[in-house]
Order: sequence, then C-alpha cells, then structure tokens
Amino acid sequence: MKLKGRVALVTGAAQGIGKSIAEALAKEGADIIVSDINIELAKITANEIGGLGVKSIAVKTNVADANDVAASVEQAVKEFGKIDILVNNAGITKDNLVIRMKDEDWDAVLSVNLRSMFLCIKAIAPLMMKNRWGRIVNIASIVGEMGNFGQANYSAAKAGAIGLTKTVARELASRGITCNAIAPGFIDTAMTQKLSDDVKKRLSEQIPLTRLGTPEDIAKAVVFLCADADYITGQVVNVNGGMYM
Ligand code: NAI
Repeated sequence: MKLKGRVALVTGAAQGIGKSIAEALAKEGADIIVSDINIELAKITANEIGGLGVKSIAVKTNVADANDVAASVEQAVKEFGKIDILVNNAGITKDNLVIRMKDEDWDAVLSVNLRSMFLCIKAIAPLMMKNRWGRIVNIASIVGEMGNFGQANYSAAKAGAIGLTKTVARELASRGITCNAIAPGFIDTAMTQKLSDDVKKRLSEQIPLTRLGTPEDIAKAVVFLCADADYITGQVVNVNGGMYM
C-alpha cells in the first residue's frame, strides 16, 4: 500500500493499458479518477476499482478539448481535494502512409495523443506544486523512438511526448514533481487486436522476449515510477521485451 492517501487521475482508463494502470495504482492504495471519453465503460471500470477498497469515480473527458479537461479536473478536485498522480494514457491511431494521410487524421492523432498531455499537465501541475509532490507519467511508444510504417502522425505525437516529458521534468523538479515517459512496445490490447495474426507473428519474431507485452507489464512500470522512483525524472522507460534497445 505504497500509495495510500494519494489521488491518481488516469486518462483513457476505461479499458486496455489505462485500466490496468488504474487497477495497479489502486492495489497500492491510491484513489482513482477514471477519465475517459467513453463514460459508460469508464463507470463500469470505476465500479470495479471501487471493489479493490479505494474510492474511484468516472469522469467524462475528451482529453483533446481544453474546456473538457478543465471541467473534469474541477470535478475531480471537488471530490478528492487534490490530484497527486497524473497518467497521460489516452491515445488513438489513424494509420496511413504519409503521402495518403488525410490532414484531419494527422490533426486528430496529434490532438488526442499529444495536445492532451499538454492540457492535462497545465491543468493539474499547479495542484501538485501547491503540495510540493507530484508524479506525472506520459505513455509514449516504441514508435516514437523507432518510427513505423503507416504511423507518421502517431510516431510524431509519441516523439513529441518524449520531448514534452523532458521539458516538464526540468521545469517542475524543484517543486517535488517528477515527470517520466514509458515507451511500451507492442502490447496486446484493442489497439493491436486490429493487427492480423500474420503481422503479430512477425512482430513477435522481432521481440527478444518472444511475446507481445500485456497491459500489466506497463502498469508495473507506472507503479514503480509513482511509488519508488524518487530520484528518476525526465527518463524514457522502455517496456518492450527488448524490441528496441
Ligand atoms: P485502447 O484503444 O485499448 O484504449 C484507449 C482508451 O483511450 C479508450 O478507453 C478510449 O475510450 C480512450 N480515449 C480515446 N480517445 C480519447 C479522448 N479523446 N479522450 C479521452 N479518452 C479517449 O488503447 P491501449 O492499447 O490501451 O493504449 C493506451 C495508450 O498506450 C495509448 O496512449 C497508446 O498510444 C499507448 N500504446 C499502446 C501500445 C499498444 O501496443 N497497445 C503500444 C505503445 C503505446
């Protein structure tokens, strides 16, 4: 129960990696704000997390929208009085080769994956500064480091997340706030279930640990960064089975 008394807001927490992160933080005693655009699923997830013995609420947020982010933070603060941990996890893909990529698909992916991180950090960091303690974890991706066929928008957003992480780490360190990124490899969730078995097999062959990752593999790294990593900031933690070293 290393995070008892802490309050964590996880974006895109209704399902997948975000849900796993929310559950893992709750198992360490943190109260959880399940922030997601899919409020029906977010409510179900918040209920399940409540069953772990912590307080958990669902808030409907489109993380790409500044007014929505401000309103959801206000709602969370009304309920809990503070936010100690922010996990910027919400993300989408809209893949295509760069010469065929629609402008709106570029904008949508940059908004939901990167602008969202800026908006949430800007809204929540002042609360952390007041308490002189905070943990920010941004979920980037292996493709932000390597690039990937068909993912110009997504890889640019995730590389941007890494740059943002390093700047925020520098700006907020003196206030007791750390900011790190996690770069997952290929993780078995709805996002990758779209891939064919053949593509999954070929991917696995490039992974020294010979399997796709699980949401729990990512959640463990988030808990480490929030609960134990007091002297780690501005880093990219690669959780990818060795696919990129
Ligand atoms: P997922 O598609 O299973 O879940 C994403 C969640 O974000 C959903 O609950 C969805 O409703 C929510 N969401 C989407 N747009 C939103 C918006 N505008 N506002 C608020 N919530 C929104 O995806 P998954 O796989 O769990 O991914 C989570 C994060 O991990 C993403 O940032 C993704 O880019 C990253 N990631 C995933 C990898 C994978 O292989 N699955 C690999 C590397 C990074």
